[in-house]
Amino acid sequence: MLSANHQYTEEGFCEGTFSKSDMVWELRKVCEKFVNVQFGQKIRLNEYHKHVISEQQHRELHYELTQVIQKTQLHKELALQNLNHFQHIVGPDIDLQAVPYLRISRPDIKEDNIGLHRDTFYGNTAYELSCIVPLEDFVEGAAVNVMPKSQNLGPLDFERLDHDTITKGSKQNQIGFLYATKEIDDLDRSKLYAPLMKVGDYLMFSLCMIHGQEKNTSGNTRWSIDFRFRNSFSPLNVNLKDNYYTNLVSSAASKLADQYYARNPLEVAEFKSSANRNKLGSA
Ligand SMILES: [Fe+2]
Repeated sequence: MLSANHQYTEEGFCEGTFSKSDMVWELRKVCEKFVNVQFGQKIRLNEYHKHVISEQQHRELHYELTQVIQKTQLHKELALQNLNHFQHIVGPDIDLQAVPYLRISRPDIKEDNIGLHRDTFYGNTAYELSCIVPLEDFVEGAAVNVMPKSQNLGPLDFERLDHDTITKGSKQNQIGFLYATKEIDDLDRSKLYAPLMKVGDYLMFSLCMIHGQEKNTSGNTRWSIDFRFRNSFSPLNVNLKDNYYTNLVSSAASKLADQYYARNPLEVAEFKSSANRNKLGSA
């Protein structure tokens, strides 16, 4: 078994188990409670698809539950309780995506997934990572794929497809669905790897990695959250919206410097690049 660091460098991703997984179980409880209230009965999350009666009902529930999950900020607590797993890959200064995404992928419903892609197609950089956290054990056919070593591939040919119903800024767009996708041409799907993660496990990968799911072919609904993180000093795409990330933790050196520049803001203008530190001037 490769160390997480070595696996990340070689394969473009790493797998592991959180040292403390209470917050994952808490997130799962939030979902269960919400779903139980919605349906007026106790429902197993992986059997959610058996109870949903319409697309409209599912979309509303997904949107509202995402708001609830985002408000709890439990993903932040999870990262703070497991800092070493994150710092091992990106160092002591970490920015965390301000709000996580909740993914609900029902069996045989292609529209519940984004397909196979690189997030660098959509305004993120290879310096950023995604962390996938299952809320139910992943089973064969339901798991998220990643293509090992796809960081080594050059530019990929793709076809741009506008989505029929999702528009920019719509509710679905806000919770992580795309209004226009880029479908990669001639992808060798035999190279995909879909780890069967259990609750408490994680998968972290660079946003340049080919990843995703085309369709859940299992009989279970997949439930997971994911959120991005990065070294606070890594470059960002100019189009990334403000407040996308918040600072999670800073090294002693960064804290001292942040405090200094809060008192001496004019000096910040002399930096070669000052765009990477959200909190500069506000420490
Ligand atoms: Fe993605």
